[in-house]
Formats: sequence, C-alpha cells, structure tokens
Amino acid sequence: MKFGNVLVTGGAGFLGSQLIKKLLPVAEHIYVIDDLSTGNRDTIAQSDKVTFYQDSITNEKLLEDIMPQVEWVYHLACRNLLLSAVDMKGDFTTNLYGGYLLLQKAKSHGTRLKRFVYTSTASIYGNAQVLPTPESYYQITMPYSASKFSTEHYCQVYYHMYQFPVTILRLSNVYGPGQYVSNPYCGVVMKFFDAIQKGEPIPIYGDGTQTRDFTFVDDTMEALLLAGQHPETIGKVYNVGTAKETSINQLAEMIIKITEHKTYQIQFQPNRIVDKVYRRAVDAVKLQHDLQWQPRFSLHEGLAKTYEWIKGKEA
Ligand SMILES: NC(=O)c1ccc[n+]([C@@H]2O[C@H](COP(=O)([O-])OP(=O)(O)OC[C@H]3O[C@@H](n4cnc5c(N)ncnc54)[C@H](O)[C@@H]3O)[C@@H](O)[C@H]2O)c1
Repeated sequence: MKFGNVLVTGGAGFLGSQLIKKLLPVAEHIYVIDDLSTGNRDTIAQSDKVTFYQDSITNEKLLEDIMPQVEWVYHLACRNLLLSAVDMKGDFTTNLYGGYLLLQKAKSHGTRLKRFVYTSTASIYGNAQVLPTPESYYQITMPYSASKFSTEHYCQVYYHMYQFPVTILRLSNVYGPGQYVSNPYCGVVMKFFDAIQKGEPIPIYGDGTQTRDFTFVDDTMEALLLAGQHPETIGKVYNVGTAKETSINQLAEMIIKITEHKTYQIQFQPNRIVDKVYRRAVDAVKLQHDLQWQPRFSLHEGLAKTYEWIKGKEA
C-alpha cells in the first residue's frame, strides 16, 4: 500500500491521529488541518513528514495553498453529535459548509488529486427500523446527521458532475487506543473505563438497554486505508461496522470484568436530547464483498486491547 501526499482534516482528533500513525510509513507527506476545537495537538505523531496547520477547514486561502500538493484527502474534521445539538450553526459551518468547501477547493486546486475519502456516520440511520441497517436506509433526526448526510450528497454531486474520485465511509461507534477522556465528547467506552479507574459511578443515560455497533479502531483504520486505495470504491458509500448489537448495560458489564474491579456503581441518568437511537447495527456486507474487509477484533478483544493501552499510559 502506497500513498503520496495526504491531507488529513481533523488530524488532532481520535480517528485523525490514529490515521496519521497508520499513514506515516506509507505516505510521502501528511498535511494536517485541525482547529483544535476538540482535538489535541500532542496526539499527532511527531515527524518531519507531518505539517500541522492549526486552522479551520473553512479557511479558503489555506485550502487553496495546500491542495496543489495533495494526492489524497481524508476528510475527518467535524463538530460532534453532542455539540451539534447545542450549536446548530457551528455544526452547519464545519460539517456541511466546510465539507462543501473542501470538495470545491480539491476540485479547483487539487491538480494531483487521486482520492477524496469522507468519513460519514451511522447516525444518519437514526432509530433504524431495519437491522443490521444497509446503506440504502436513512432517517435524519439530528443536526449532526443532517449535515453529515448532506455532505455525502455533495460528494455524490461532485462525483456525478465531474467524475471527482470520492469514497464515503459510514462509521459506527469507533473505540480503542487513541481516544482520550480529556476530550469531554469522547465515546462511551473510554468514559466507562475512566469512571471505573477513578472509582466513580459508571454513568448510563436511559436504562442501558439501548444498543450500539462498536467497531475497534484498527478495523476502522484498515477500512479507511483500503477504501482510499481501491478504484472500485470510487463514487460509492460503505458502512463500516460489525453488524453486532451490544447494549450499554452489556458493555458496562464487559468493561467491569476486564478491569477486574470488585466494587463499582452504576448511575442511571435521564436521556439527553441526543439520545434518540434505541438500536444500532450496521450491515457492512458491501465493504466485505468489494474489499474483502472483515472486522478482525471481537468486542472483548478490542476492549482488552484498549485496557492494555490505558494501563500502559499510566505506567
Ligand atoms: N469516533 C466515532 O465513533 C465516529 C463514528 C462515526 C463517524 N465518525 C466520523 O469520523 C470523523 C472523525 O471522528 P473522531 O471521533 O476522530 O472525532 P473527533 O471529535 O475526535 O475529531 C474531530 C476533529 O476535528 C477538529 N475540528 C472540528 N471543527 C474543525 C474545523 N472547523 N476545522 C478544522 N478542524 C476541526 C476537532 O478539533 C477534532 O480534532 C468525523 O468526521 C466523524 O463524523 C466518527
């Protein structure tokens, strides 16, 4: 696998920082744009091959300057689901307008561009009535799903109007090493590990019977890299997930077992405005068929690896 010059937006975030680590041995140079609104610069691998810009993806001049060098764009920068509910304009500006600007500048200034990979989300399935949910389904109920789904559509527009080489991946509840609780919007897996480590009650919104499709970060990274290389993914949208549902209560039980903590407390809290999804599992058969991608890590294996990483950080 070989990449040339790559632009990673949102490279100081959870997935961006992990993607940069995977790209380092196979890319020539990596440009990173992140405004550090939720990201952490220290999570970006230190290397002469990385150039970091602390800036917004809505800075048109910056995009115009970088795009002529770039052969791959991995567009990961985003305002998350929680923020989108309290600041709809911020969500619109980054997730939709920012996505549109990147497409526009990649098209007009990206003379060497080979691929534009966009990380969308299983959030566009809302409270799906079809499980595991295929790519053809959608149910838009939150600003985040509206902006992410709209940007998918602009990707499709650029593909159909200009044969622009886009690939869209819909990710589902990614967890694993590289996710930091210092980011208050980090996922539930890290929040549970953190609460147990600190001897605090494990916070569960609702009654904990709601399910999610948890994907280990290495599996997600493999999908991102594969999809960015294979010509058959151009113009297509793929789910990335395991098709397995795990309830939040089951997740808490697994994490308690892995950490071997004898005493713990669970604190059930009322649902937040964003807690509208009761069940989630995504159907990734299309990705398995086109790229022979399979999730390699069971949830138990992924959680055990995550715990090893957490303990390693403390040592
Ligand atoms: N982590 C998951 O479980 C998950 C699930 C589904 C989809 N996704 C998608 O994957 C991508 C990466 O997710 P993540 O978990 O790493 O998120 P993250 O919040 O950890 O990272 C997002 C990064 O984008 C940066 N950012 C925000 N607004 C910006 C702007 N205007 N300009 C430049 N940078 C900006 C933030 O500072 C942050 O570092 C996102 O597009 C997200 O929608 C993630």
